[in-house]
Amino acid sequence: MAEKRIVLQNCGFIDPEDISSYVENDGFAALAKARKMGPEAVIAEIKASKLKGRGGAGFPCGLKWEMARRASGDEKYLVCNADEGEVGAFKDRYIIQNDPFSLVEGIVIASFAIGAKKAYIYLRAEYHYLRDTLKAAVQQAAERGILQGLEIELKEGAGAYVCGEESALMNSIEGRRGEVRFKPPFPPVSGLFGQPTVINNVETLVNIPRIIWRGAAWFAGIGTKDSAGTKVFSVSGDVEKPGVYELPLGSKLNEVVRELAGANDIKLVQVGGATGSIVTESMLDTPLSYETLLGSGAIIVLNSTRDVIDYVYRTIAFLNEESCGKCTPCREGTEVLAEVLGRLTSGDGFPDDIKTLAELSQAMNISSLCGLGQAAPVPVLDSLKYFKHDYENRIKQSVFLRKVGFA
Ligand SMILES: Cc1cc2nc3c(=O)[nH]c(=O)nc-3n(C[C@H](O)[C@H](O)[C@H](O)COP(=O)(O)O)c2cc1C
Repeated sequence: MAEKRIVLQNCGFIDPEDISSYVENDGFAALAKARKMGPEAVIAEIKASKLKGRGGAGFPCGLKWEMARRASGDEKYLVCNADEGEVGAFKDRYIIQNDPFSLVEGIVIASFAIGAKKAYIYLRAEYHYLRDTLKAAVQQAAERGILQGLEIELKEGAGAYVCGEESALMNSIEGRRGEVRFKPPFPPVSGLFGQPTVINNVETLVNIPRIIWRGAAWFAGIGTKDSAGTKVFSVSGDVEKPGVYELPLGSKLNEVVRELAGANDIKLVQVGGATGSIVTESMLDTPLSYETLLGSGAIIVLNSTRDVIDYVYRTIAFLNEESCGKCTPCREGTEVLAEVLGRLTSGDGFPDDIKTLAELSQAMNISSLCGLGQAAPVPVLDSLKYFKHDYENRIKQSVFLRKVGFA
C-alpha cells in the first residue's frame, strides 16, 4: 500500500525556514489564482470539492465559509486550530514543522474568501517550540507582500485539551476561561468577539491551496463519494513504524496499521484519539471515512499484552482531568466513570458496574454540552461491546477475592 501525499506533498522537499524554496515549488500560485477568481468563486470551488473539516467533526468546509461570508459583522475572523491536544495526534505538528508556508497560504485564501482582515493561529502550548517556525513563515510572507493587509496573529494555548474545541478556543483567545459556549449561535454567525468566524483545522487549511490549484473535480475524485480527498493519520502504540501517513479516504484500517505502520499483534485499535471508537482485529477491513470511522486521524494500536480496562480507565481519567466543568453530565459523569473503571482495574469491581458504566455513558452522550462529554463514553461503550468478557472476569475475580477475605 502506497501513501498518496497531497497535504504532505512538500514535506521533506522544501526548506521550512525559507520561503524561496516554497515559491520555487509553485508556492502561492494557488493564492494568486484565488485572488483572480474572487471570493464567491473560491467558496463555490471549495464547496464543489466536498472538503470536510479534518479536525474531527467533519463539517463541510465550503458551507462554513459561505455562512461566514454571508453573515453580517463589522469584522470577520479566520482561526486556524493548531491546538492538536488529541491523544495520539501529531499530524498538525508534522505539517507545521515541515511545510508552514502551505498553512499560511491556506489561511490567506480562507481569509480572502470569507472577508477576514485578521486571522489567528491558535497553537497548542506544548508546541511552543514551533512558534518561531510559524512566526518566521508569516513574517517572510508579509515581507513578500503576500498577505495584502491580512494580519496573522499567533496565540498560544495554556495546556487545556478542551481548548481545541472551537468555542472554548475562542474564549481562550479572548482571554476568558477555557470553557465551551452554548450553541447556537455557531461561530460563522457569532464567534470570536461576537463576530462571524471560521475555525479550521491545520490539515483542512493545507488542503485549500491544493484544491484551488488543481480544481474541485480533481479533489472530489479522490476518496469515496462522501469523503473526498486524503487523510493524514498519526499512528502510534504497538507498531513497528509509528509515524504520520497520508492515504486516500476510504482506505482500510488494515492498510494503515499493518501495511504501513507494521503492526503484527493487534488486540485493539482506537481511531480518533481519546474519545475515538475502539475496534478489534477482526474489524481491520473497515474503511477509514466520515461514513464509517475517522475522527481526527489519531490511531493507537494495542497488542495482546495490554489490559483493555486499564487502557479505558487511563483514557477516561484523562478526559475527567480535562473536562472544562461547565456542564454537569461531563463534569460529574467523567468523574464517576473514572471512579468505577479505577476500582475495576484495581480488582475491586461489583456486579452492577457494567450496568452503571453503560447507563451513565448513554446519559452523558445525549446530555453533554460538547464533544468531550458526548464522546467520552465511546471507548467505554465500545470496550463493553467487544471486551465484555474482560469486564465480567475482572468482576468475578473481585467478588471471589472479597468472598474469601482477600479484598
Ligand atoms: C474536546 C474537543 C477537542 C478538540 N480538539 C481539536 C483540536 O485539537 N484540533 C482541531 O482542529 N479540532 C479540534 N476539535 C474540533 C473543533 O471543535 C472544530 O470542530 C474544528 O477545529 C473545526 O475545524 P475543521 O472544520 O477544519 O475540522 C475538538 C473538539 C472537541 C469537542
